[in-house]
Amino acid sequence: MPCLTVYTDAPNYCDAAKQLAQQLNLPFLSKGTYPADDLLCLNESGLFITIQRQQIAKPFRVDFSETTLLQRAKKATPYNELIAKAIGKNNKSVLDATAGFGYDAFLLASLGYSITLVEQSLIVSALLADGLNRAKQNKTLEPIIQRMRLITNNSIDYLNTLTSKPDVIYLDPMFPVSKKTAKSKKEMQILQSLIGGSQESHLHLLLKSARQCAKNRVVVKRPRISKPLCDITPSFSFNGKAIRFDVYLHHSDKMQNTSMKQASRRGITPSHPQFSIPNPQSS
Ligand SMILES: C[S@@+](CC[C@H](N)C(=O)[O-])C[C@H]1O[C@@H](n2cnc3c(N)ncnc32)[C@H](O)[C@@H]1O
Repeated sequence: MPCLTVYTDAPNYCDAAKQLAQQLNLPFLSKGTYPADDLLCLNESGLFITIQRQQIAKPFRVDFSETTLLQRAKKATPYNELIAKAIGKNNKSVLDATAGFGYDAFLLASLGYSITLVEQSLIVSALLADGLNRAKQNKTLEPIIQRMRLITNNSIDYLNTLTSKPDVIYLDPMFPVSKKTAKSKKEMQILQSLIGGSQESHLHLLLKSARQCAKNRVVVKRPRISKPLCDITPSFSFNGKAIRFDVYLHHSDKMQNTSMKQASRRGITPSHPQFSIPNPQSS
């Protein structure tokens, strides 16, 4: 975990930066010699993070107007985005319980889903909140951002307080650290550096809470060649080149049989239907 300092080079952002440092419980540094440290820098262009030690020295901010992301959101349809197929077009409300920098949620919001984003890390959440605020000022992005609501909390705690169930709960926990991680995208390197991996016990509790709270299904993003989360077999999966979306249908979801039939018709094998095998010894 980097030792971050909140910094500003803009005199009119001094108070806001000081306040942010207090909220995040981090040291504050105002204009002066630019320190060669790990920084959260606030100015008129947004909130940037710089982590020197990990060669992520180029400042990074959450930017939903970034060309690749925007182009993808513009081209996205319920039929060409694997994530949308996994969420299901009949579902409307999604709770993204591992929000990160909100890119997956942004893609879903651009497809018309209404998303609650829950992020446990105060620093990640501050970077995301800044990205959302700037995007709200952009006419093209504003209607999409309207469908995104950020909550800073641990999802396991948050899900316990819910009175109305979201149709879908989406989970994208940090992928296991692999040799490829060093080459992974800059934003993933930053998340790795800030968050690290997740404990197995935490993932168990997260998946269990999600399955209890989702009205229709839980969708989990995984590396394509990897075990299902916590070794719990999904109802079916959607496979991409590098990633996979595992779908856990709610027991009472009347769509279950239909979705599985549709999936197998599209060449997506319902991975392992849940059979209830009677135990002869218990009868
Ligand atoms: C791989 S990132 C998610 C990336 C995200 N899907 C995106 O598109 O930017 C995983 C994130 O989940 C968050 N997280 C993990 N467990 C959580 C929990 N119990 N509650 C809230 N956030 C959690 C981590 O802090 C991290 O930011």
